Amino acid sequence: MVMKRLPMYLLPILLVVGCGGGKKSESSSNTTEQKAQQTATVEQTQATAQSEQVSEFGVGPIQEPLNLPETIDEALAKKGQELFDKKGCTACHELDKKKVGPPLRGVTDQRPPEWIMNMIMNPDEMILKDPVAQKLLEEYGVPMTNQNVSKDEARAILEFLRKAAKEKKN
Ligand code: HEC
Repeated sequence: MVMKRLPMYLLPILLVVGCGGGKKSESSSNTTEQKAQQTATVEQTQATAQSEQVSEFGVGPIQEPLNLPETIDEALAKKGQELFDKKGCTACHELDKKKVGPPLRGVTDQRPPEWIMNMIMNPDEMILKDPVAQKLLEEYGVPMTNQNVSKDEARAILEFLRKAAKEKKN
């Protein structure tokens, strides 16, 4: 009796192992390995880039504190709003809804203004080296594109985003 029932119990197990149950877990562990390798490559790139430390400002032209005043420069914010449209940001961003990228109202409460300007001017390097930008890329799965924004333009867009953040609070 026992001898006869034993193979019956084993059959499904053998089938699973034989038909790729084992293979599946092997290939998924492969993917994990590949991911680990990719991460290692990024880390190596970072290390060879003069083992530079990414500051809380991120990577880009803004490395000095901006020391912004509390009050909003209304004219600058208006210019920023126009640029937000003209520079193609609206293709991927809205203020209050996820689009291709994150909603941007309130981002000025979440991140340093210097980081935001670097993200706007230098997204390609940011998503490669800045841990916060890397996390966002992981979440959104699409790399933000470089829209050729100058420092003055980025500053204006930042003012628009600062104004938008305040408007929700009021
Ligand atoms: C092709 C789509 C695309 C365009 C165009 C684009 N972005 Fe982005 N943006 C993203 C994505 C996606 C992210 C999240 C990071 C990533 O995946 O690269 C992001 C991230 C950001 C962040 C950081 C958000 C956070 O939560 O910290 C800011 C700020 C930002 N974008 C501003 C802009 C501005 C300003 C422009 C226009 C000059 C712009 N983006 C153009 C797709 C885009």
